[in-house]
Amino acid sequence: MINSKKSAAERAVSYVSNGMTVGLGTGTTAYWVILQIADKIKSENLKIRAIATSVQSEKLAVKSGIKLIPFDKIGEIDLTIDGADEVDENKDLIKGGGGALLREKIVAYNSRQLIIVVDQSKLVHNLGKFPLPVEIAVFGWEKTMDNLAGLGCQPSLRIRDDVPFLTDNGHYIIDCNFQQISNPSILNREIKSVPGVMETGLFIEMADKIVVGYEDGKVDVLD
Ligand code: 5RP
Repeated sequence: MINSKKSAAERAVSYVSNGMTVGLGTGTTAYWVILQIADKIKSENLKIRAIATSVQSEKLAVKSGIKLIPFDKIGEIDLTIDGADEVDENKDLIKGGGGALLREKIVAYNSRQLIIVVDQSKLVHNLGKFPLPVEIAVFGWEKTMDNLAGLGCQPSLRIRDDVPFLTDNGHYIIDCNFQQISNPSILNREIKSVPGVMETGLFIEMADKIVVGYEDGKVDVLD
């Protein structure tokens, strides 16, 4: 069976070249990206420096032999390759299904280019079917969750193994079910104005390219 995430990752990694500083995303698609960057470094003898968006990706990168550098030493990031939970027709995204949205957004914001790799199931007409992850402070989380509900969603605290999921930054995630988000940009601003919110999973006008893998093996690049 064709692995569409893997084929999309392969195409995205073709944009990586010698001397680049690369941002490494998080998730099951970014997993393939990291492995393929590691292969490319070895087979083409490339000099690549990387920054990871989660502890999980950091561990995989180290195990695969990719040279990581601390964020404060990084200067500009040439290219970041990451996954997404939903991609709409404007290339706006919902991210954070894996809980790494805060670091992912910081890295993406500081990158010259952001390439998003997805399989076809992630393409949507309107964002919002996938509950929007919002990273919040632990202090006062119940109140923050109530305030998010006031913006028109059904919020739920993310639980893993019967306890609240803690991000790599020591925060909680509220998954906000809006069903349909008609104006992602306005909603992003509204959510960010709620005290206690660290970051939202809405990535607006950030992606430069979307690389889409299909079940039949075809890969499309949306510029
Ligand atoms: C993690 C993310 C991931 O990129 C997103 O959840 C997609 O994951 P996957 O590639 O496993 O479907 O935003 O915070």
